[in-house]
Amino acid sequence: MKINVAILGAGGMGETVIKHLRDCPQAGRIVAYDIRKERLEELKKLHNVDVSADLNQVLADPTIRVVFITSSNDSHKALTIAALEAGKAVMCEKPMATTLADAEEMVNAAEHTKGFLQIGFELRYSKLYTKVKDWIDEGLLGQVVNTHCLYCSSVYTKDAWRNKLSAGDTFPERLSHYVDLTRWWIGSEVSEVYSACSPNVVPYTEVRDNYHTTYRFKNGAVSHISYYMNYPAMFRGDPLADSVTDLQLGDGHKLRYIIVGTKGAAETDVFYRHIKRWQFSDTPERMVSDWVENLTWNYKEDQIHYHNTHDQTLDIVRRVAEGLPPKTSARDALQTMRLCFAAIESADEKRSVSLGNQ
Ligand SMILES: NC(=O)c1ccc[n+]([C@@H]2O[C@H](COP(=O)([O-])OP(=O)(O)OC[C@H]3O[C@@H](n4cnc5c(N)ncnc54)[C@H](O)[C@@H]3O)[C@@H](O)[C@H]2O)c1
Repeated sequence: MKINVAILGAGGMGETVIKHLRDCPQAGRIVAYDIRKERLEELKKLHNVDVSADLNQVLADPTIRVVFITSSNDSHKALTIAALEAGKAVMCEKPMATTLADAEEMVNAAEHTKGFLQIGFELRYSKLYTKVKDWIDEGLLGQVVNTHCLYCSSVYTKDAWRNKLSAGDTFPERLSHYVDLTRWWIGSEVSEVYSACSPNVVPYTEVRDNYHTTYRFKNGAVSHISYYMNYPAMFRGDPLADSVTDLQLGDGHKLRYIIVGTKGAAETDVFYRHIKRWQFSDTPERMVSDWVENLTWNYKEDQIHYHNTHDQTLDIVRRVAEGLPPKTSARDALQTMRLCFAAIESADEKRSVSLGNQ
């Protein structure tokens, strides 16, 4: 049975979801809603979708069973709660909201209405990062004790809403994916977080352009993220590019994780397109680590290996059509948001923040 779908917020991400829905066997009619009428006309021509500039009309349509909230961050809470109260299943893009209190209200609304709410942490669908999760679940890494993420992203354009404090800070907007991954891999909750940020280099952002954040987990594991928006990006054709030729423009130029467990280690690199695994063993002289797996992929498969919004979109529509719950609960996603806002608090107040999971 096909179900109709609405896209609330028809910018870049909304258009991406529309394209994915074309591959979805359960998706029927697609309706796009936005506050920008000219953008709706553009989408109608480009993708032959129905459009509406009237939110109440969209939410009152009983044939629309699921909505994708792909608008700017400041509108996520109001749209999510309105859609849940109208009885729609909701996928809301990360970050859930611009404050923790708003994110909590959204989860409470989902639980109160017994509605479906999944947050757009699509890295849990990525072939790259699910490979690491599989290795962990198979016991190949032992207990994960350390993770390190180095991420150098592209710089926001001057007119981007992401530059403004009203979008929330950089951490929820840009880094929530990366703390969500480490929570997923480590399988424990965070007890303490410490963030330090240097003065901004990008002069026109109201938000921070760097973060150095360390999380201590209840089970003893430690994860660290070093983020730079201010470390110059290389672009396609740049003679200094030390990476492969088809760089993923728009998302940056370095994104590497090191994941260390008690029995082995792994490394993922988005821009060099590799996933490596080492296995530890004991010898009379010392512990040794053997390189046992080295996987790579073609640039044409970047989407499913990295930001796999394609499979996430199809999975969500299938779940709603079949009456299944979200892959990951909204309350679980709220835990990730809690870590994002704790990282901001730590940077603001220049002290570590306890999450109360001692
Ligand atoms: N998961 C990911 O990897 C990923 C990638 C990109 C963007 N995103 C998220 O998707 C969302 C949209 O990002 P984008 O890059 O498409 O931004 P964008 O600026 O291209 O599009 C945002 C759209 O939202 C519309 N909008 C603003 N307020 C609205 C409201 N109240 N009702 C309806 N529409 C409204 C704007 O008119 C615009 O068309 C953001 O939350 C962003 O964080 C997630």
